Amino acid sequence: MIQLFHVCKRYPTGQVALDDVSFEIAKGEFCFLTGASGAGKTTLLRLIFREETPSEGQILVNGRNVAAIPRSKIPYLRRSIGVVFQDFRLIDRKTIFENVDFLPRVLGLDAARRKKMAFEALRRVGLAHRMAAFPRQLSGGEQQRVAIARSLIAEPEILIADEPTGNLDPELAGEILELFLEINRRGTTVLLATHDREMIERVGRHVLTLGGGRLIDDRHLTPGEALPSLAVPPSPAGEAPA
Ligand SMILES: Nc1ncnc2c1ncn2[C@@H]1O[C@H](COP(=O)(O)OP(=O)(O)OP(=O)(O)O)[C@@H](O)[C@H]1O
Ligand SMILES: [Mg+2]
Repeated sequence: MIQLFHVCKRYPTGQVALDDVSFEIAKGEFCFLTGASGAGKTTLLRLIFREETPSEGQILVNGRNVAAIPRSKIPYLRRSIGVVFQDFRLIDRKTIFENVDFLPRVLGLDAARRKKMAFEALRRVGLAHRMAAFPRQLSGGEQQRVAIARSLIAEPEILIADEPTGNLDPELAGEILELFLEINRRGTTVLLATHDREMIERVGRHVLTLGGGRLIDDRHLTPGEALPSLAVPPSPAGEAPA
């Protein structure tokens, strides 16, 4: 479903964020992406949903090379890959409905269909009754649920989340994780970046660990099993001094 072959990412600043990363995530998997701050997690996710392109190597999503998709076709890629960010990225002056309705509007779907889609997506996260509210009228956990509803609106095959629980207290973080697990049980492939090793060890699953831009571990953990302590290799050549 998601395959990376020898992916390198060097930013225009010369910073090497990813160095020779290869892995595969199968359809229907729940996969964690972890590693220290600066290890390259966000960069990797941005490459997969085509917010950035790799400097070297290939990324295939459903067998399609995402770097080769023309800019005009990116909204269609976004239809198969939903994305959730740590800071929610909701638009304050728009209602919950309008926030969730973003992609269907870009895709030019008709109003009746869009309304139905927004209702269904918000229902899945338990917020269908808040369609007319504004983001500031919701709690942090509710705002993250709206962001998840927005990412689910086109029923994507893949859901990518970058530290979706990073801004939430532990109880809310647990609820949001449960929501991702439920979405995965219903068939969506999930790739979730987190620093939270305790969370990963609690639920297990496929775990990819980055260190200094390299993939330093790729394993399937059973719930309750401890993650190994891993030595981070020296930084890739060409990296600017920290
Ligand atoms: N737009 C950019 N331009 C230049 N360098 C960047 C850019 N974005 C990230 N980097 C660098 O690439 C490396 C990887 O950053 P990235 O944001 O992918 O790490 P991360 O694992 O997501 O970290 P965190 O856990 O803090 O979110 C870091 O050294 C970072 O400084
Ligand atoms: Mg990050």
